[in-house]
Amino acid sequence: MGLSRRTFSALAGTTALGLALGGSGAAACAYAAPTVPTGPAPAPPAADGRRHTIEFDRYSLLVDGSRLVVWSGELHPFRLPSPSLWRDVLQKMRAHGYNAVSIYVSWNYHSPAAGSYDFTGVRDLDLFLTMAAETGLYVILRPGPYINAEIDAGGYPGWLTVTKGTARTSDPTYLSYVDEWFTQVDAIAARHQYTDGAGTILLYQIENEYNAYVDQPAGRDYMAHLYAKVRADGIDVPLFHNDNGRNGYWTPGSFDTGGEQGRWLYGFDGYPSPSQPPPDWGNFGIGGAKGGATASPDTPGFVPEFGGGWFDPWGGVEFKGKGYAESRRTRDAAYERRFYLTNLANGITLHNVYMTYGGTSWGWLPAPCVYTSYDYGAAIDEARQPTAKLIPMHQLGHLLQYVPDFAKLDRAADVTVTGLKAYHLSNPDTGAQVYVLRNDGTKAVTSTVPGIDAPVTVPAKDARLLAAGIQLGRRKVRYSNAQPMLALTAGRQEIVVLTGPTDEKTVTALECEGEPTVSVLDGDATSTYADGLLRIEAQLGGLTRVSVSGGGVATPLLLLLADDETSLRLWPYDTPSGSVLAYGPALVRTATVTGVTVALTGDTVEDAELEVWGPRGFLEVTWNDNDLTTAAAPSGSLRATQPLPGVGPVALPSLADGWRKKAENPEAALAFDDSAWKTADRTTSFSTTPVPAGQPVLFADDYGFHYGDVWYRGHFADASGAQSVSLAYSTGTQGLLLAWLDGQPLGAHRMPVPDKTSVRQGSWTATAEFAVPQALRTSGPHLLSVLVRRMQHDMDGKSTDTHKAARGLTAVTFKEASPKVSWRLQGEAAADPVRGPLNNGGLYGERNGWHLPEFGDGDWALGDLATTEKRQGVTWYRRGFKLAVDSGIDASIGLILNDDVARAYRVQIFLNGWNMGQYINDVGPQHTFVLPNGILRTRGSNTLALAVISDGTTASGPAEVGLTLLGSAAGGVPVTTL
Ligand code: GAL
Repeated sequence: MGLSRRTFSALAGTTALGLALGGSGAAACAYAAPTVPTGPAPAPPAADGRRHTIEFDRYSLLVDGSRLVVWSGELHPFRLPSPSLWRDVLQKMRAHGYNAVSIYVSWNYHSPAAGSYDFTGVRDLDLFLTMAAETGLYVILRPGPYINAEIDAGGYPGWLTVTKGTARTSDPTYLSYVDEWFTQVDAIAARHQYTDGAGTILLYQIENEYNAYVDQPAGRDYMAHLYAKVRADGIDVPLFHNDNGRNGYWTPGSFDTGGEQGRWLYGFDGYPSPSQPPPDWGNFGIGGAKGGATASPDTPGFVPEFGGGWFDPWGGVEFKGKGYAESRRTRDAAYERRFYLTNLANGITLHNVYMTYGGTSWGWLPAPCVYTSYDYGAAIDEARQPTAKLIPMHQLGHLLQYVPDFAKLDRAADVTVTGLKAYHLSNPDTGAQVYVLRNDGTKAVTSTVPGIDAPVTVPAKDARLLAAGIQLGRRKVRYSNAQPMLALTAGRQEIVVLTGPTDEKTVTALECEGEPTVSVLDGDATSTYADGLLRIEAQLGGLTRVSVSGGGVATPLLLLLADDETSLRLWPYDTPSGSVLAYGPALVRTATVTGVTVALTGDTVEDAELEVWGPRGFLEVTWNDNDLTTAAAPSGSLRATQPLPGVGPVALPSLADGWRKKAENPEAALAFDDSAWKTADRTTSFSTTPVPAGQPVLFADDYGFHYGDVWYRGHFADASGAQSVSLAYSTGTQGLLLAWLDGQPLGAHRMPVPDKTSVRQGSWTATAEFAVPQALRTSGPHLLSVLVRRMQHDMDGKSTDTHKAARGLTAVTFKEASPKVSWRLQGEAAADPVRGPLNNGGLYGERNGWHLPEFGDGDWALGDLATTEKRQGVTWYRRGFKLAVDSGIDASIGLILNDDVARAYRVQIFLNGWNMGQYINDVGPQHTFVLPNGILRTRGSNTLALAVISDGTTASGPAEVGLTLLGSAAGGVPVTTL
C-alpha cells in the first residue's frame, strides 16, 4: 500500500471539512464534522467488516465523524499468562465503563533469538486482539520497540543486548532488528484495524518516552523510520508517541512523516505525586518549554499513560517497597477523581490509565527495579478482583460514552467557588456547562456554584464533576449537585442516572414546559414544581427511583439516583436491539437481546437481586444461560423473583507436608563434567561494561545466556600463595553470588543495596572477596565454581544503552597469585517452547526439568520444608496437590510463603512448570503469588516445585507454604488449561 495514494487532512474546528482515510486504495470521501454532538452513545466497536474513519480535531477523536472520548485502561497480555483470563479482565473493563484497552507488546516476550518469533499460546496477540473486538473495546497498540514498562531490558530481547549499534537511534544495525520486530507485530496488527472493520485497533504508538535525540538527526531519523515502516506494513490508523511529560516532544511536524499530514497525534504521560495538587497539564495548561497549551494546538488532549497506581520496588532499598496495598491507598478512588477530572478539565479527551490491571511479571520478566507482582495498586487487582477504585472509573466511563457533551469542551468564564479549585467548561454547541470542583485541602468543603441552586460538598483531597444546562435524553437538567452517569432509552422510557456519596442530599432541577406527574417509586425523595422547573430533592442511599411523566415530553423518565456503591451495580449495555440496563449482580459481562429475551452473563459474589430494563416488548431474562422467573416491577423493569445465588465455598488443600526434597548444585564439585559448557573465549563485547584488560569476556549475555541464574567454572593449575580471590560481578538489584573452591563453600555475596542515586542510574556492580582456605593454597588443579543470580537487565529509559550493561561475572583476580584461569559457563537451556524464553534460568534443576510436572521425583526423599541445616546452595522441593473447584466458580488462588525474616534464602516458584516468580524471604515485600487459572488447574492435579537458594548464613526454609483464596465469584469465563 503506497502512502502517496492517500490524502490526509487534520480537521480544525467544528466546521472544517476533512478528507477521510479509506482503506488500501479506497477513494477518500468528504464529510462534515458534526456541529451538534448529541444522540445515543456510539455503538461499541466490533470487527464488523465495515470501513471506518478515524480522524480528530483539537477537541477529540472523530470516529466515522462522531466524537469519541477515549476512556482506556492499560493491561499487558504478557503479565497475564492465561489467554482465557484476558477475556475476563477485558469484560470487567468494558462493564465498568472503559471503551478501550491499551497494550504494550513486549519484544522480548516473543523473540528467543534474532529472527525467531513466537505468537502462539500465551503469546497469541491475534487472539488477544480478537477478544478485545469481541468484548467491544477499542485497542491502543504499543509495540515499542522500546517500552520501558518495568520489564527486563525495557522490552528488548536478551539477544539484542549483545548486538552492535546504539539502540533507540537511527543506527542501521539496530534498525534492521527493529524492522524484523515490526514486520512480525504489524502482520498481526494489520489484520485487526478498525479502519477496515477487521478488528478494533484504533491507535498505534511508536517508541515510548523517547526524549533523547529530540532535536538531532539520530532521533528524528529514527522516528521517521519507525513511522514509515509501520505505514509500509499496512497500518493505517493514526499513530502517536508517548512523551515523558508534557514537554512538547514529537509533536506533529517535528519529524518526517513521509508527507502524511493529520495522521499523527501528540500524546504525553503523567505520574504526578498524589500528595501534591494535580498539575494543569494539557491543552489548556502548563508544560515544559514547548509544552502546555502551545504544544500541539491542533490535536486533542491525549494522555497515553496516566498513573493509576505505581510500581513497587523490592524491600530493603532506601525507598523500600511497601507492598501494593500502599499504592492502592495513596492512589485511591478520591485520587482518581481528583487527578482524572483535572485532566478532563484540561482538555484531555483521550485518557489511558496505566495500569488498570497490572498483573504479574512472571518468570524473568521483571526489570531489576520491581518484584514479581505488578499489581500496581490498579483498579482491578492482580488476582482479577474489582476494587473500590472502579467506582469513579465506572461512573465517569459510562458518562463520557452516554453523554456526548463531554467530547467537546472549551474553557468557560472562571467561577469562584469558595474553598475549592473550580474549573468551568462549556460545550460550544450544546451550551452544556461543566464544573470540576476540587478540594486540595484536608477538610471537606461545602460551597455553592453560581447557577447551581444547591450546596455542593467535596470531601478532603477529592473532586466532583457537576453539569448544568445539560441535555440528558429528551430533558434538560438545568442543574444538579449530583454527578450524571448516563442517559439511555430502555423500552418506552428514558432512564437517567445521577450519582453521589451515600447520605448526600441532592437536588436535581429539570426543565419542564408544564407540570409533570412525579412519583417516587423507591427511596427518600420529594419534588416541587414552579416556573417551569421540577426540583427533585433526594437523600442518597441505595437506588432512589423517581418517575417523571408529562411536562411537555411524551417519553416518561425514570430518574435513578444511586449512591456510589450502588452505581457500581448498574450495568448499561448497548445492543443492536436497543439499550439494556441491569441492576444488582457484582458483574454483568455481556447482554444480548434475541426476540423477547434479554440474555445476561455475569458474576455474583453474594446472593443478588436482578432487575433489568430492556427494549420494548422484552419478556424474558436469562442469567448465565438459566431461565429466570421474573415479574414486572413499577419502574418498568423485569425483576427476578428469586435472588441470584452467590458463590459457594472453595476448599483448598493444605501444603504443609508431603514435600519431596533434593539438593543440587553438582556444578560446585570438582568431578562435575562441564565439557559441554561454553568456553569463555571472547575478548570483545558490545556491552557498555568494559572488558577488563587481560581477561576474557565473562558477561553471560555474550554467550547467549540472558535470563536467571548462570554458572561459571574456572579451572586453574596453581593456587600456591593465593590469599584471596576477588570476583567482580554485575547484576540488577538484589543480585547474589555464591562461590566454591574445589567444592568447598567460599561464601556468598549479596549485591549491596545501592543508594537512591545509583538505583536511578541502574549501576549494580560489586566485588566479592573471599579468602582462599589455607589448605587449598596449593598447586592444583583447582576449580572455582560461581553461581550468579543476575536479576535481569536494566531498562534503557535514557537511551544510553543501559540494557547492555554486563550481567554475571565481569572480572576475577587473586591476591598474591595470578593463575591463568580457563572459564566455562552455563546459563539457561534452550527456551521452553511453550512457556517461552523468560521462564527459566540456568540452575541444574531447571536444565534437567525438575520444575516440570512430568518430572519423576519418586526417588527424592520426603522431607520437611523448613530445615535447620545451613547449606550454601540450591535445594528443590516438590509436591502435587489437587483442586476440585466447582466448574461454575471463578476462584482466584494464590500461594503464600512466610518465614522468619532473619532467614536468608530465596525461592523460585514453579507451578506446573511455569515460573510464577521469585520470593526473597529476607527482603520482601511480596509474600502472596497469584496463580492464574489455566496454569493452575482448578479442577485437577497440580505440581509445585520450589527452587530454594540459600546463602548458607542461616537455616533456610521456607517455613510456611500454603494456598489462599484471593477472591471468588459464581460465574467467570471458561478457562482453557495450558
Ligand atoms: C512510564 C513508562 C511506562 C512505565 C511507567 C511507570 O514513564 O512509559 O513504561 O515505566 O512509567 O510504571
